[in-house]
Amino acid sequence: MKENLKTIVFKVDPENPEEEKISVAAEAIRRGGIVAFPTETVYGLGVDALNQEAVKRMYEVKGRPPDNPTIVHIAEFNDVYKLAVDVPEVAEELMRRFWPGPLTIVLKASKIVPRVTTGGLETVGIRMPKHKVALALIRASKTPIAAPSANIAGKPSPTTAQHVIQDFYGSIDVILDAGPTKIGVESTVLDLTTKPPQILRPGGVTYEELKEVLGEVIVHEAAKARESVQLIEARSPGMKYRHYAPKAELIVVEGETNRIVEEIKKLIDEYSKMGKKVGVMATDETIENYKTGIVKSVGSRLDLSTIARNLFRILREFDDEGVEVILAEGVPEEGLGLAIMNRLRKASGYKIIHAN
Ligand code: TXA
Ligand code: MG
Repeated sequence: MKENLKTIVFKVDPENPEEEKISVAAEAIRRGGIVAFPTETVYGLGVDALNQEAVKRMYEVKGRPPDNPTIVHIAEFNDVYKLAVDVPEVAEELMRRFWPGPLTIVLKASKIVPRVTTGGLETVGIRMPKHKVALALIRASKTPIAAPSANIAGKPSPTTAQHVIQDFYGSIDVILDAGPTKIGVESTVLDLTTKPPQILRPGGVTYEELKEVLGEVIVHEAAKARESVQLIEARSPGMKYRHYAPKAELIVVEGETNRIVEEIKKLIDEYSKMGKKVGVMATDETIENYKTGIVKSVGSRLDLSTIARNLFRILREFDDEGVEVILAEGVPEEGLGLAIMNRLRKASGYKIIHAN
């Protein structure tokens, strides 16, 4: 990573973003610079989506392979028609229902979208984030903002500005710090260029919610995969890369809750005997069962949104504490559970144990 830029870090009020700070950040975007900003899901690494040079520089700084497309963020519904062509009616229905919010829709790209932004694809992923700072930045920049999650490629996504600072201080222009993000997992990526529509990445808007509007919607095999997706056709180029991964070895234990607990207790013993520093990612309901290792609750099984919110932060914390093996409890794949399990399985490199 190049460390030659003077990065400005602004604390911004999430409810009433200060105009002066937003305008400094927007100026950086307009000059082709890179600005990290909060959204309701995770922090984004933003550049002018229509400026090829800026997009290329962002890919370099992030270490992202050039064939992995970047989501384009907008603040006005009408911008969809500038960025995309052949917008189906169902897209409009989804926009009305879920925007601003954690849904990215993949449509046929218009000519104005540089192909570096779309990773060479003829489609573009578009979303309107539900965060006052993000919307103010996009409006003040007067251009759509291309933004992947603001983490070095492969690492867990950033849910605080501190995470962004760890990865990019000195290599980007501005970091807007508006505190921890609310949802904690990224947007749902929905491909509307296929019939039926396909969820390429589960996220903040659930399968169940989409099904209610669409009737028929399928979850791409790779998004549910329990094995490496290299074997499966990767419709969303992001699918084929290892992602979200902590430095520690991560093992996901899935199955019925009591069985998960028993299995993890055994694994703690085995890894401890090998002299490994073990971390356990437990839940509020199970944490009391673990007596050794570094044990953290990621949230409540009764409210999966709490788990989504804490997931990436806890993975980074285990790394910061020098944990060598993380044993993580799986959760049911319902509601946000589908996104949580997708991230955990990918982060583990598909090291999954079925505790049944
Ligand atoms: O919540 C989010 O989506 C965050 C915030 C910053 O908006 N952004 C984010 O971006 O997670 P990124 O780049 O880390 O993940 C975007 C995912 C990748 O898996 C990428 O392959 C997929 O969306 N994607 C983007 N455009 C696509 C397209 N045209 N076709 C298929 N997949 C696409
Ligand atoms: Mg990402």
